[in-house]
Amino acid sequence: MSDLENFDPDWLALREPLDHATRSARLEELLVPALAGRPALRIVDLGAGSGSTLRHLAPRLAELGVEAEQHWLLVDHDEELLQRALATPVPAATSVRTARVDLGDPDALRSVLTGADLVVGSALLDVLPATVADTLLDGLSALEPRPAVLFVLTVTGGATTEPPAPGAAAGFDADQRSHGLGPDAVEFCVAGFAARGWTVAREPTPWRLADSPLLQEWARGWFGAVGIEAPAVTSAVVPHEDLLALP
Ligand SMILES: C[S@@+](CC[C@H](N)C(=O)[O-])C[C@H]1O[C@@H](n2cnc3c(N)ncnc32)[C@H](O)[C@@H]1O
Repeated sequence: MSDLENFDPDWLALREPLDHATRSARLEELLVPALAGRPALRIVDLGAGSGSTLRHLAPRLAELGVEAEQHWLLVDHDEELLQRALATPVPAATSVRTARVDLGDPDALRSVLTGADLVVGSALLDVLPATVADTLLDGLSALEPRPAVLFVLTVTGGATTEPPAPGAAAGFDADQRSHGLGPDAVEFCVAGFAARGWTVAREPTPWRLADSPLLQEWARGWFGAVGIEAPAVTSAVVPHEDLLALP
């Protein structure tokens, strides 16, 4: 799969089709009124990786009737992934730039967020330590005007497999918590946004994995994190959640 610092581009590519199918369509629809009436949108994708959100959301916004030009800024601390993202073919009236930034650096964060109409992130919040998530929430809340914010596919823990693997989920979740917010990320960020005056909507977006290369690779990483050689699993449910924060 990957460790929490470096994300394997093959793993990101393997999960991308399911990620695109799993994202909350309802929260994307709720986002549209917040973007109305602007001829151009500045969209900042935090932890953009190799560009999965750009590939999903640029055409999806157009499909939802957002006619504005889209100017994307893809932000990550991994330059190699950003270079891959730049190879993405994009719809007309869409521009893409990248910035290599560590989200824990408040000044660098401010420079990429300034002027944003929409800030997005996918599979990001659970890998952030609480200190970085706080820096991010503070940075977003200091913007004037505040943008719309959509963070999707945050892991919330308690994954289950068939056949069952007693204790594995607790072990994996504890391992995640030793690196970052892990399964506590959504609750941490929902509370953090609310405390800073944002309105938050949320929706569970679980992965439902049937037998496939993605299931096998997920199981290898999931069991591997707790030091167990992956048994043969035939299916899994991996809970995630999407959240939309509006000013
Ligand atoms: C699980 S990957 C998701 C990538 C992409 N959003 C997707 O959905 O395919 C998490 C991404 O966050 C980036 N990331 C994690 N911590 C970061 C930090 N402190 N600063 C900048 N990027 C970070 C990683 O490099 C990685 O690209």
